[in-house]
Amino acid sequence: MQRQALQWRRQGVRISFVPTMGFLHEGHMSLVRRARKVVGPKGRVVVSIYVNPTQFGPREDLSRYPRDLKGDQQLCRREGADLVFAPSNQEMYPEAFSTFVVEENLSQTMEGRSRPGHFRGVATVVAKLFNIVQPDIAVFGAKDYQQAAVVQRMTRDLNFPTRVIVADTIREKDGLAMSSRNKYLTGGSRTQALILWQSIQKVQSLVKKKRSLNTAAIKEQLKEFIHCQSTAKLDYVEFFDPLTLQTVGEIRPGTQMALAVFVGKTRLIDNARL
Ligand code: PAJ
Repeated sequence: MQRQALQWRRQGVRISFVPTMGFLHEGHMSLVRRARKVVGPKGRVVVSIYVNPTQFGPREDLSRYPRDLKGDQQLCRREGADLVFAPSNQEMYPEAFSTFVVEENLSQTMEGRSRPGHFRGVATVVAKLFNIVQPDIAVFGAKDYQQAAVVQRMTRDLNFPTRVIVADTIREKDGLAMSSRNKYLTGGSRTQALILWQSIQKVQSLVKKKRSLNTAAIKEQLKEFIHCQSTAKLDYVEFFDPLTLQTVGEIRPGTQMALAVFVGKTRLIDNARL
């Protein structure tokens, strides 16, 4: 992969990169289309498919994370991607691997707090992938808002010559944010999963009416609202500045909202600009 990338670069061909963990859906494919759009027909679009073990906690779903490499390759081909990079664990983490990338500020809250070590794994694998794929442009989804912020910070702090683009969250018709983990939602839990989007819309409409809301009070309301669903359990809901990720005491138009909810055993996240 790196040899190919360096050859493209020597020829002046621009490389656009979409890192994924596979089991691709319309959300991923929207990133591939965006990647194509920014480099044009003469550029190369690379998609990586790698379920990165270092970003999963010991009690998380690494072993049962959904996989379908054949189907993913077909989707990438259909969308006009030039290369699918799907390395093995041996290639990515050979024996005696002992170097990690740690972002120390934006990683502390939300996903970082709930999933210790998660962003260390993400930053490390993204840094490795950037070195392997040598992208001019990399496209990430706003679905994982904090991840995109951590990656942007790492890219700047470590001087990667890569422009990071963050593309909008793609949703199902009923508002559920597309996610590979939605495959876990069977029967009634698919309906209960709508509680994330409903929570966001609830606060959206309140902000529209009131312009300023007390964060603590809204958090309490949301907790109650979410727990009306029999199998839903709120992990966190936060309101913060979209650039610094600093939490705010008053929710206003432009505040970013993010939440994580367990629906049964499935942990889902969503976020939006209010
Ligand atoms: P994965 O969850 O497969 O997501 C790959 C990319 O697709 C991420 O940038 C994510 O934000 C984006 N994405 C997922 N669902 C989306 C949706 N509904 N709308 C728009 N974009 C969406 O995120 C990862 O993999 C990994 O952490 C990775 C960055 C590949 C590092 O291992």
